[in-house]
Amino acid sequence: MTFTFDEIYALLMGRADNWLYMKADEAKTNAYGDEVYLRGIIECTNICARNCLYCGIRAQNEKLKRYTLTVDEIVATARQIKAQGLKSIVIQSGESEAVSDIEIARICHKIKDETGADITLSMGEKPKETYRLWKEAGADRYLLKVETLQDELYRVLHPGYELKPRIKCVENLKNLGYQVGSGFIAGLPGYTTKMLAADLLELVQIGVHMFSLTPFVRAQHTPLEQHLNGDMDLVYRAMAIYRLMAPDVNIPVASACASLDSNSKEKGLKRGANVLMLSYTPDKYRHDYALYQGKNTAFTEKLTDLKNLVDVILKLGLKPGFDFGRSKYEYT
Ligand code: 5AD
Repeated sequence: MTFTFDEIYALLMGRADNWLYMKADEAKTNAYGDEVYLRGIIECTNICARNCLYCGIRAQNEKLKRYTLTVDEIVATARQIKAQGLKSIVIQSGESEAVSDIEIARICHKIKDETGADITLSMGEKPKETYRLWKEAGADRYLLKVETLQDELYRVLHPGYELKPRIKCVENLKNLGYQVGSGFIAGLPGYTTKMLAADLLELVQIGVHMFSLTPFVRAQHTPLEQHLNGDMDLVYRAMAIYRLMAPDVNIPVASACASLDSNSKEKGLKRGANVLMLSYTPDKYRHDYALYQGKNTAFTEKLTDLKNLVDVILKLGLKPGFDFGRSKYEYT
C-alpha cells in the first residue's frame, strides 16, 4: 500500500485507528501467517564511547557500573539460548572497542559452529571492512537504528556525530548481504509527528528488512531524564503504517514498549508486529544495560520468561516461531 505524506500524518494523529490496525494485522498475516519470531538477545557490554542525549549507557554517565562479558560468557549464553530451542541470536553492545572486532568475529564463528543459529549483530557504526569481517565470520543480520532521519535533530541528540555516515553504514551493510534492521525513537524531544511521517516515507524508500521503533523512555542520569516519555499510540500507529507500506519486513515489539505499556506485546502483535525478543544477558550484568528506565529490571528464570512469552503468543491465537526468523523482504 502506498500513502502520501498527508495520509501518514492523518493516520499518526489517530484518524482511522480501527481501520489501520485491522489492515496491518491482515498484511502481517499474509506475509508471516500466525508465526511470531522469537529471538534471544545477549547485551555483551554497556561500555559506550558516545554521548547520545537520551541513552542511559552514554559515556558521560558516571553513575553506571560498566561491564563487559568475556568471549566465553557470550558463547555460553548463546548455548543457553540454543538449549531453549531458539535459532535466532542477537548480540548487542554500546559503541566501543571493549570487545574488539576480532573477538566479535571469533564469537560469530564459534556461535555459528556450535549452534547453527542465525546471528544478528547490533554494535553501531563500523568501517565496511569490519562489517565484511563479521559477515564472513557468520553474522547474518545487523541492527543499526538511525533513530531519526532529520539531520539537524540528529546532530543535537548525538553530539559530535552526523546522520549521513550512519545512513552510509546501512547502505554498506545492505551491499554486504546482511539482512538489515533500522528505525527510529518516537517521541524524542523535538521529534514532531510531521517529522516522523516524513521519516517513515524515507525509510521505506531506503529499504530495510526489519523496522524497529521504540518510544522514547527517559533514562536516569542523562540530559533528558526529566523529559516526557513518548506516546505509545504513536508507536503502534507508526508500526502499523510501516507494515502496510512494506508488508514483508520483520517488525519487533521493542522491549522499550513494555516500559510504557504492560500490554504492549498483545497490542503490537495484533497491529502489524511479528517478532519478540528476550534478553538472556546474565543476571549479574543485565540490570546495568540501562538504556532507559525499566530496561532489564527483572531478575528471573530465562525458561520462565520464555514460557511467559509463549503463553502471550498462544493466548492471541498465534504460534511461537522457534526457527531462524528471516525477513521475507527483498529489494525492489
Ligand atoms: N528510549 C528509547 N530507546 C532508546 N534507545 C537508547 N536509549 C533509549 C531511550 N532512552 C534505543 C536506541 C538504540 C537501541 C539499542 O536502544 O534506538 O539504537
